[in-house]
Amino acid sequence: MKSVKEQIDLNRLPKHIAVIMDGNGRWAKSKGASRIFGHQNGVKSVKETVEACAEIGVEYLTLYAFSTENWNRPAEEVQALMELLIKTIFDETPTLNKNNIRLLAIGDIKSLPAKCQEQLASAMKETSKNTRLSLVLALSYSSKWEIMNAIKQIAQDAKDGKLAPEQINEVIFENHLSTAGMPHPELMIRTSGEHRISNFLLWQLAYAEFYFTDVMWPDFRREDLYKAIISYQQRERRFGKTGEQVKQPN
Ligand code: IPE
Ligand code: IPE
Ligand code: MG
Repeated sequence: MKSVKEQIDLNRLPKHIAVIMDGNGRWAKSKGASRIFGHQNGVKSVKETVEACAEIGVEYLTLYAFSTENWNRPAEEVQALMELLIKTIFDETPTLNKNNIRLLAIGDIKSLPAKCQEQLASAMKETSKNTRLSLVLALSYSSKWEIMNAIKQIAQDAKDGKLAPEQINEVIFENHLSTAGMPHPELMIRTSGEHRISNFLLWQLAYAEFYFTDVMWPDFRREDLYKAIISYQQRERRFGKTGEQVKQPN
């Protein structure tokens, strides 16, 4: 009997996996603990997921760590999340380097506390030459924010005469998103049983396969990632064509 990991076809891996890490608060509450305890325990799941992706050969992993809307949470929780972020980035940078992992960030990074921006900038610089896996943290991120930003920049270019409106196309638009240069995620995973996208990568997920699991993020382990990849590999991605066309190209 093959292990879950052995069932993965390494020749058909998604290049880019995106994850909405959800359920920390409910996980903690079910144990009679504070929501912050849930976030602290989510760090282990982040480490397992990052290591597993690097090991099997996924090229990009984007983790939704803090949304634009999450600023509306109680101040103590927001502060605890920012502190946890600073500490985790600091603690994990040597491991990222050891494992040849490059750290990137998308979102309204300037809205983060100064200490957080500094820690992030230094970790990104220290890992910038690494080539095995790109770990992208979505921080103070929302897709609507990202799209509005892109539109403003393109409008400015048009106003400045650098670009004619009829020249605007998908390539130009994508180059103005914070994910410019990255492949679109083929697989999007959301934990905790919620079936929604919560303002995450709306454009980039246009043709992604979605995988939902009831597992709460602090309980998410390598095997849960492998199961998601296996589910992805069992699907037929048709991109508007018929099943027959996809099975017999031409
Ligand atoms: C995800 O867990 C972490 C963040 C959004 C920062 P939640 O904190 O959303 O946990 P639930 O959904 O309330 O259980
Ligand atoms: C989405 O989770 C954002 C992150 C995982 C960082 P939320 O728990 O904030 O999403 P909603 O608001 O319940 O949809
Ligand atoms: Mg949640």
